[in-house]
Amino acid sequence: MTPGSGDGRSTVAGLVAIASGRLLEAGSTSARLDAELLMGHALGIDRTGVIAHGASPVPAPAAAAFEGFVVRREAGEPVAYIRGTREFHGLALAADARALVPRPETEQLVDEAVAEIARRLTSSPRSPGAAPVRVVDVGTGTGAIAVAVVSALRRRRMDQAVHVTAVDISADALALAMENAVAHGVADRMAFHRGDLFDGLGDGAEALDGAGGARFDVVCANLPYVTTGAIAGLAKDLAFEPVLALDGGPDGLDVIRRLLDQLPSRLVPGGVALLEIGHDQGESILAACAQHVPGWPASVAADLAGLPRLARVERPVS
Ligand SMILES: C[S@@+](CC[C@H](N)C(=O)[O-])C[C@H]1O[C@@H](n2cnc3c(N)ncnc32)[C@H](O)[C@@H]1O
Repeated sequence: MTPGSGDGRSTVAGLVAIASGRLLEAGSTSARLDAELLMGHALGIDRTGVIAHGASPVPAPAAAAFEGFVVRREAGEPVAYIRGTREFHGLALAADARALVPRPETEQLVDEAVAEIARRLTSSPRSPGAAPVRVVDVGTGTGAIAVAVVSALRRRRMDQAVHVTAVDISADALALAMENAVAHGVADRMAFHRGDLFDGLGDGAEALDGAGGARFDVVCANLPYVTTGAIAGLAKDLAFEPVLALDGGPDGLDVIRRLLDQLPSRLVPGGVALLEIGHDQGESILAACAQHVPGWPASVAADLAGLPRLARVERPVS
């Protein structure tokens, strides 16, 4: 790419076209989109602006920045890390190498959690001073699920009746989750806890910030579910993401099975756990539920592509 060559290749559209070809060659499955987003980042405009101003020349400093971004993307670094942000459930979340980039498929878990919480808040009259619906997001990463759930409930004026604890085993991820919660103005409805699954939430009071006990009404978890064997063969983007966020052991369900084991002491009677799973884990998660929480109703919902994506497990009331 030669900025300022004056032959049309140094326009916004020209540089995007050249970069798209390079990124396609480098193995990106979304080369054009990547190039447009990176150009927008270089110019400080959004993607619509990139498309609308295709004929405009790119100033030399922006062209140089764009070239740097494209080189990083060619090496496999996720666009979200290069831009430092990722759109998730209508929110611009900060994203960097401290945590997994939130994926669009996880928005289904958020929608289900919001619907579940709203049902609990509206199914019977609530007395003033009633305890909040207690939610935990186990393996919060960027805080995507927790922050999106509280934000969605705030839009419905329901956030004051909910309290969400965000847990991660990674201190780095938890720090990023806190940043996102503060940036989106929802930290007042949240607590943050570093730990292995529910460990350390034993007494509850300190981790739950006075909002209730250590048991929860709704458990949300997008924990690692990739099989150890598959990690090496995954797209090179994933090499930039924390392995702790991905590796679910030999069949991908090691961490989720440990979570299931803890649910009897962590879910209130009638409580619900919503667990994201891999597209090929529909049958194995149901088998794991039957073994680890026998007698608890469990089901799997498909994503928009019709693939198993979200497991729902309920603790019977009695
Ligand atoms: C697949 S990422 C999901 C991140 C985020 N929830 C999302 O949906 O984008 C899994 C997260 O679980 C965390 N994690 C892995 N094992 C854990 C454990 N035993 N206890 C708590 N968190 C864990 C990882 O650090 C990572 O942030």
